[in-house]
Amino acid sequence: MYKLWLIVLAGVLGMGAAFAQQHPMFQDADVALGEKLIADNKCEACHIRRVAGDGSAIYNPKGRINSPGALRGMVEYCNTELNLGFFPEDTHAVAAALNLRHYKFR
Ligand code: HEC
Repeated sequence: MYKLWLIVLAGVLGMGAAFAQQHPMFQDADVALGEKLIADNKCEACHIRRVAGDGSAIYNPKGRINSPGALRGMVEYCNTELNLGFFPEDTHAVAAALNLRHYKFR
């Protein structure tokens, strides 16, 4: 019985940790879709031409993006500039994926 409770407790704590990694604003976002859109649209490829390494240094070097809303706004701006034709949920998903990996707003 004692062991069973430990397993349940570990599960609950684990779930808590997983949820804590994402900002509430992006809780409903499809991160897998976001990752796919980032790959399909060669976002990193262009960023790597600008900065060295894996391109992630392009994300928030100056702390300009200081909130999840600003991050989503930036993705929307790129969408418009690059004519990517994202739907609002695509923008949301891409911003969520970038947040998980780089910006880490919680
Ligand atoms: C044609 C090249 C190019 C492509 C393609 C591109 N980007 Fe960018 N991106 C840039 C450049 C250059 C900057 C830096 C702009 C600056 O510092 O003013 C940037 C900056 C950004 C930033 C803001 C960084 C920060 O925190 O200040 C985000 C977010 C971003 N890009 C997301 C994306 C996403 C998502 C995609 C793909 C859907 C994408 N970009 C595709 C060139 C590109």
